[in-house]
Amino acid sequence: MTVVPPPLTEPGRCKRLKAASSRDHDSVDQLVMAARPFEDRARYGRFLQVQHRFHGSLLALYQDEQLNQQLPGLMQLSRFSAVVDDLRDLGLPLPAAPATICASAAQALGWLYCSEGSNLGAAFLFRHTQRLGLDEHHGARHLAAHPDGRALHWREFVARLDGLLLDEQEEAEVLVGAIAAFDSYRAHLREVFA
Ligand code: HEM
Repeated sequence: MTVVPPPLTEPGRCKRLKAASSRDHDSVDQLVMAARPFEDRARYGRFLQVQHRFHGSLLALYQDEQLNQQLPGLMQLSRFSAVVDDLRDLGLPLPAAPATICASAAQALGWLYCSEGSNLGAAFLFRHTQRLGLDEHHGARHLAAHPDGRALHWREFVARLDGLLLDEQEEAEVLVGAIAAFDSYRAHLREVFA
């Protein structure tokens, strides 16, 4: 697939990523809701499997030394262990460890943009889990807000990502990574809820 990067004259890398991936976001959003993940605990358990695959495949990026230098504090942001705890809370078996994604350093930034941005929509998903009797201490830990609040946490992440100096080639790769992340999420959803 050919990905056309948005013009570099537009302000803010994340704003450009958002504009260039909004169709992908909307299709993922629609697929999540079509899967009815909050209808009952069994379906929510499947949603946790999707999250386990996606966040597990990104764990090595969150732990990567170079990426942590570029984005200080990145290591603490992974939600994979919270997903594992949520599966345990529900008494569900842990799926096999997901394969780590393959991405260049610049593409990895796009994957992380997608993963961190998903925390914003998670506010909406988190509210739905309450109907299932779940919360930030039991079963829905990975959807809970960052202690600083979702908006502030996101603004800080955006400032760091926007502040990185990248050349034109890397800039294009960031977008490739973001689109690949949405594609991968869609594929996990389709497989798990097939
Ligand atoms: C039903 C599921 C979802 C809903 C309802 C939803 C909703 C939202 C909402 C309301 C925002 C904030 C938009 C804004 O402030 O302009 C957002 C942002 C975002 N979401 Fe989702 N989302 C969902 C799933 C996902 C998933 C599964 C991913 C990633 C795999 C994702 C990635 C993102 C990203 C990257 C942003 C940040 C956009 C930006 O401001 O740059 N979302 N989402």
